[in-house]
Amino acid sequence: MPAARLRSARAADLPALLALEARFPGDRLSPRSFRRHLASPNARLRVLAGGGRVLGYYLLLLRRGSAWARLYSIAVDPAERGRGLGRRLLADAERQARAAGRDGLRLEVRADNGAAIALYEAAGYRRLAALPGYYQDGGNGWRYARRWQGP
Ligand SMILES: CC(C)(COP(=O)(O)OP(=O)(O)OC[C@H]1O[C@@H](n2cnc3c(N)ncnc32)[C@H](O)[C@@H]1OP(=O)(O)O)[C@@H](O)C(=O)NCCC(=O)NCCS
Repeated sequence: MPAARLRSARAADLPALLALEARFPGDRLSPRSFRRHLASPNARLRVLAGGGRVLGYYLLLLRRGSAWARLYSIAVDPAERGRGLGRRLLADAERQARAAGRDGLRLEVRADNGAAIALYEAAGYRRLAALPGYYQDGGNGWRYARRWQGP
């Protein structure tokens, strides 16, 4: 079980990020969008690296003018799940959002994604809205949010 260190993603991580994306079902990020987010001042693409591998990553979007940050994607290598890496990634995304002056974090999750829903609810996220047919395959979603500041 390699020790894991958080850092910003770099171009050399791209193959590992694409491989991680390919291992779970859903709407996937293309190589092109990964590259765009890597270079964008309005995105944070961060990885947990260990043993010379990418064990997990997240993509946080910081749209200009919004009080919210949006967690666009988060994933842990299937072989590394269940040992707190997802929780570490989520906590890091929150730190990045706070450092960027955002009041809270929002995200969308598939209604049938029990592991991710459990992760978010354990971290204090609350359901904001149902998103019927939100996903490309017609799957339903939920919008979740956690706010740490504001009126
Ligand atoms: C969701 C995901 C990132 C969780 O990563 P992880 O490293 O396994 O999660 P952690 O070990 O940090 O778990 C933290 C908490 O989340 C909850 N949790 C995580 N996986 C769970 C599961 N399979 N069943 C129930 N609860 C789960 C638990 O509350 C857990 O705390 P605990 O271990 O103290 O009980 C991982 O399952 C994954 O990569 N899934 C595929 C990609 C995905 O669905 N991303 C979300 C898209 S919105």
